[in-house]
Amino acid sequence: MTIYFEKTYQRCFGTFPLKGQQLHDAVLAAAEVGYRAFDTAQMYENEAETGAALQATGVPRDELCITTKVDIANFTGEKFLPSVEESLKKLRIDQVDALLLHWPAPDGDIRESLQLLQQAQRHGLTKHIGVSNYTAQMMRDAKALLDTPLVTNQVEFHPLLNQDKLLKAATETGIPLASYCSVARGEVFKYPIFADIGAAYGKTAAQVVLRWILQKGVSINTMSTKPANIEANFHVMDFTLSSIDMHRIEDMTKTGYRIVGKDLVPYAPDFD
Ligand SMILES: NC(=O)c1ccc[n+]([C@@H]2O[C@H](COP(=O)([O-])OP(=O)(O)OC[C@H]3O[C@@H](n4cnc5c(N)ncnc54)[C@H](OP(=O)(O)O)[C@@H]3O)[C@@H](O)[C@H]2O)c1
Repeated sequence: MTIYFEKTYQRCFGTFPLKGQQLHDAVLAAAEVGYRAFDTAQMYENEAETGAALQATGVPRDELCITTKVDIANFTGEKFLPSVEESLKKLRIDQVDALLLHWPAPDGDIRESLQLLQQAQRHGLTKHIGVSNYTAQMMRDAKALLDTPLVTNQVEFHPLLNQDKLLKAATETGIPLASYCSVARGEVFKYPIFADIGAAYGKTAAQVVLRWILQKGVSINTMSTKPANIEANFHVMDFTLSSIDMHRIEDMTKTGYRIVGKDLVPYAPDFD
């Protein structure tokens, strides 16, 4: 498997759209409850603050799994490596654990950006490489193009959206998925089913949603500004949803609720 499937790193703390004191406090609270994986991106314009906050946690570097993502504006031969070097400087580290392409290149041609990503890895700027917002076909094409494995495709993944095509591609290519918008930015809480199921396990609606994602074989990114939610989101390893409950939740994917689509991100690909 991959780094994300080491138990500690299956729960990653996301930093978008946090900045300033709120980001600092959230990262410290996350580290305090046990998060060791953190996700940022050039586009979030918070790498420097994330780097400072991570340093302030006092957690040794070798215990952390730090992911950043390259902005599509830097997908050129001149800009790619310098942009990653700049990210490392801001994050106060020599190497990230995972460097992802934040989006497929807007023209749909994934080759050049994947080559540049591989180059960054060869230069030692990252341990692992991955992608984000790739379609199932792009996952297959990327697998065929590369001679190093991609450790993840970070995508919108929650129980209100069916992502079976991506799950199938993940199995076929060996590129595991990681979730974002894991609680659909709060939309899941409008549906009582998650709290109802949680009552039987002594867990909250959010914990049920996150556990469902994990049991789908997908590692999770969550973000919260509230210490109680940060802690609750981390405690999802000590129970297992029954197959009946997994199926009940699966039924919710018919809702077809997508947050990050072309209306929000005009250069988004035609998602599966
Ligand atoms: N690759 C990409 O293109 C991409 C796109 C989007 C996001 N991401 C990454 O994924 C991370 C997570 O995604 P996201 O933040 O967009 O969506 P999300 O995790 O679905 O939603 C975050 C929202 O949910 C609330 N929340 C979190 N845990 C909760 C809980 N236990 N109970 C109640 N409310 C809860 C938070 O509010 P409170 O602060 O009030 O708890 C926050 O407003 C981001 O931070 C970012 O790192 C990546």
